[in-house]
Amino acid sequence: PTDFSLTGRSANRVVILGAGIAGLATAYELGKAGYDCTILEALDRVGGRNWTIRGGDRVLELNHSFQVAKFSDGIYFNAGPTRLAQWMVTMDYCRELGVDLEIFTNSNAQAYIYHQHVGAPVRWRTAKADMYGYVAELLSRATDAGALDAALTAQDKERLIAFLSSFGAVGNKASGFRYTGTPRRGYSVNPGAGDQPGTVLGPVPSLSEVLASGVGQWFEFEHGYEQAMLMFHPVGGMDMIPRAFAARIGPERILLRSKVTKITNLQDGVEVEYRDHYGTTRKISADLCVAAMPPHILAKTAHNLGAEVQAALATPTVVNAGKIGLEYNRRWWELDEDIYGGITATDLDLTQILYPSYGYGSARGLVVGYYNFDAQANAYAALTSPERERRAIEQGIKIHGAKYRDELATSVSVAWNLQPNIEGAWVSWPSRQGAYQLLNKPAGHVYFAGDWLSHMIAWQSGALESARKVVMGLHQRVMNAN
Ligand code: PHE
Repeated sequence: PTDFSLTGRSANRVVILGAGIAGLATAYELGKAGYDCTILEALDRVGGRNWTIRGGDRVLELNHSFQVAKFSDGIYFNAGPTRLAQWMVTMDYCRELGVDLEIFTNSNAQAYIYHQHVGAPVRWRTAKADMYGYVAELLSRATDAGALDAALTAQDKERLIAFLSSFGAVGNKASGFRYTGTPRRGYSVNPGAGDQPGTVLGPVPSLSEVLASGVGQWFEFEHGYEQAMLMFHPVGGMDMIPRAFAARIGPERILLRSKVTKITNLQDGVEVEYRDHYGTTRKISADLCVAAMPPHILAKTAHNLGAEVQAALATPTVVNAGKIGLEYNRRWWELDEDIYGGITATDLDLTQILYPSYGYGSARGLVVGYYNFDAQANAYAALTSPERERRAIEQGIKIHGAKYRDELATSVSVAWNLQPNIEGAWVSWPSRQGAYQLLNKPAGHVYFAGDWLSHMIAWQSGALESARKVVMGLHQRVMNAN
């Protein structure tokens, strides 16, 4: 736990630009120490990219396309962030804010890997059993034949072979360490009662077929520090986090539909111009400002922070991502395929399919039919929402069959590059020198905060850590001035 508290209080006025996770955390932490915070938010909701879409919600895109979510009661679609790792500070904020968590299933042996040239989906468990099995066979044989004698003592060899035997479920020396399949692959007929031992899934592909299938490329995913299980998500939708922040901050301090149009650093403070709810231009003055907007949006906002800051804001590259939420009339992934959460990885342009980690066994459910990046996300972004649905369904049928179309109730898609005032999923820096360093320091009375100023880009924890860093720096400065 990394609870955060500031020593000393201040009544200074701080204007915060953006009610995304960084802006909300800034207001929340400064508020605890007495600061008088106001948040300007261009959208009509808090959270920024932390966006949960439910029935009745509207999705407006920059090309003027318009969707109204027709999801059933109890169904939600996390269009942005979807998972929290246990080590992330986001977990601590959930505890502090009273946001209930449940497990988010990021890897599931029962989900699939689908590669077009293979033609049929393969369960992760089957792919792993075969790949691990053949690797263990080859390494056991090479070790036993003395090919690795330069690297291994006699005892090392024995221990390595023992490990490989359990790791890959391969035969003993007498059988040439052969991998011939294992129940780890799964069953075509499950084990049952009495004299029903079940039928292990077959046939076992050859080593060459397993290598050619390319399934092994996905295995690293669940080994990553950020993506390894267990992972978590808030009960009821990711936006429980911004909602809880907003409730603690006080909704009266958050001006929605208030788009920042100009940031002016002054001798003794800061002045921010914005267009309010009614289209009227207004000004707000403060002692300090925290700009918690995306860098590419700040770069399009008038300011007097200088050419170097402007160039720095325009330095990172914007990355696009997209998602579609598909509500189904029937939880066929559970009923027909025994999949309760997790992700199917593919080489289709939908990239991946995510099964819901909530509502198991209930009547309806929401599958994320694509979550893709870069070129694949751009391809879907260029389509109308009905076209996106059609394309996602056509692709998904290859894995799940006709029910993937027939049992669909409704869908909503989000292309992050087309979201007003956000215009991207996240950014990437060419380097952590120069521009990144500059924006990690205040420009006069203006500080910058966001995941884009952290080493956890595209994670809420990056936004939270950045906000804390700015809050500490700002508070130190105010305390030193007193
Ligand atoms: N955090 C986002 C996710 O988990 C984006 C991301 C993807 C970040 C992959 C890093 C690596 O989907």
